[in-house]
This record gives sequence, structure tokens and C-alpha cells, in this order.
Amino acid sequence: MIGKGGCPEQASAKICMRVLVITGAGVSAESGIPTFRGKDGYWRNLDPTKLATPEAFARDPNLVWNWYCERRRRIGRAQPNPAHQAIANLALQADEFLLVTQNVDDLHVRAGLPPEKMVQIHGDIFMTRCSRCEFRRYEHEQEQDGASLPKCPDCGALMRPGVVWFGEQLDLRKIGEVENFVTGGDCDLVIVAGTSALFGYIIDWALRARGQAGQLIEVNPEETSLSQFATRSFREPAGVALPRVVDELLSNGSA
Ligand code: APR
Repeated sequence: MIGKGGCPEQASAKICMRVLVITGAGVSAESGIPTFRGKDGYWRNLDPTKLATPEAFARDPNLVWNWYCERRRRIGRAQPNPAHQAIANLALQADEFLLVTQNVDDLHVRAGLPPEKMVQIHGDIFMTRCSRCEFRRYEHEQEQDGASLPKCPDCGALMRPGVVWFGEQLDLRKIGEVENFVTGGDCDLVIVAGTSALFGYIIDWALRARGQAGQLIEVNPEETSLSQFATRSFREPAGVALPRVVDELLSNGSA
């Protein structure tokens, strides 16, 4: 049985748990958004992990903007899937909850996840920011078509997608939000879904958050470097496994 003491005072919480969920591209795969490293990830025969770099942008900003514009359009047309819905449901029912997503799409929020319970650690694809100064704007509608490169209205430098590229630093404020949660108390449950878990900080947060006694559930059709630490693994698509896991949690109050 998982569940900390001290919850009864908080009558509104349906499950007395501190929960961290970490997601990656696999959670949006069933919404038709290609993963980065999967076989469908290639775009015009180009490797996304090579396009999402400051070097690619410096070499060919048009090409990189075209890729992001196409991704924005695809995300705009996509719908949240049962995995996003299950995570949103868990967020609303758990006593304490944080989602750390590596995804730059907006499908978690469109599934009903309260934005204040989510950290988009790799940024937001609908944000456009200046490559030189602090100027940034939110472009949910497709204002930028990739045909002409956008320039900063403040300093005239090239605008770029507001995401974190390979080799770039994570946003310190966002790291702080995650660290606050991770150090704020051991989690009863950590769920890591749809990520190849290639970044050390993802594994570090998952392991530190679960502490000595928390459960660590991995949802991924493939094994990853995190699998060896999981207390339960579901080798299934997230849209299949997560609704079941969350239903089980909500009916038992435990994982
Ligand atoms: N359900 C769950 N997992 C899935 C599904 C699915 N339906 N389909 C694929 N997966 C898994 C794959 O097995 C793989 O482990 O999702 C993972 C996707 O891995 P990546 O493409 O590497 O995506 P991610 O882990 O999010 O990448 C991390 O790297 O490219 C950068 O910044 C980018 O945020 C991204 C980061």
C-alpha cells in the first residue's frame, strides 16, 4: 500500500499520494506526433536530433524553421490521447503532483492538466524567442510560415523557436521548479512514460524523487537505461497502459 500519513485533513484529495510523472515523445506518439529517435522520426530524410541544434540553425535557419512550422501545424491538428488524459486525471486526483515533460507540444494541457502542475523542461514549441535579446512571444496561431525568417521587433536579430536544443542549458527557473518538488519530500510514486531516458537529469530526478520506498513505474514498449530501477514495467504503448495504471491507483489508492 502506498500513501503517506497526514492526508486525511486534505479531504479534497482523492488519492493521498505525492506523485511525479515524467514524459517524453512516446506519450504523444499515439496522437500522431513522431518521436525523435523512432523510425518515423525522420523529416525529409533528416535526423531530428541533428536539426534540433544551434549549429543547424546557424547553418540553415530556413530549414530549421520549416521543420518547426511543420511540427507546429501537426501538433495543432493532433488531439490528446488516452495517455495524456490519464495523466491529467491523476494530476487532478493526487494530493501532490508534478509533471515534468520533455515534450514541447501542448497536448498534456489540452487534456486538462493544470499548467501550474507541469514543467516543460525542453520548452514550448509555440514560443518564439529572440536569438540575441530577451524578447519572446507566444504564437499559437501559425504566424510564421517558414517562408521569411522572423526578426526581433526589439533588436532586429533572428527569432528562433523557444525550445532547448542539444548542447544548450536548461532554463534555471524550470530546473528550480523541479528541484523544489524533488527535494520537497519523497514521492510515493514516480511514473516515467514514453522516453528513451537518455538525459542524466531525467534518471536523476526519477531516482531521487522516489527516495527509498517509492514505486517507480516505467511505461515504454522498449527497455531503457531506467528499466533496471523500475519496480514495475509496462512494455506497452502509453495510451494502453496509463489509463489502466491510473484507474488502478484511483480505485485502490495505491499502485
Ligand atoms: N508509448 C510509450 N512509449 C513509446 C511509444 C508509445 N506509444 N512509442 C514510442 N515510445 C518510446 C520509445 O520506445 C522511446 O523509448 O518513446 C521513446 C521516445 O524516445 P525519444 O524519441 O528519444 O524521445 P524523448 O525521450 O522524449 O527524447 C528526449 O531528446 O530529441 C530530444 O529534446 C528532444 O525532448 C526530446 C529529448
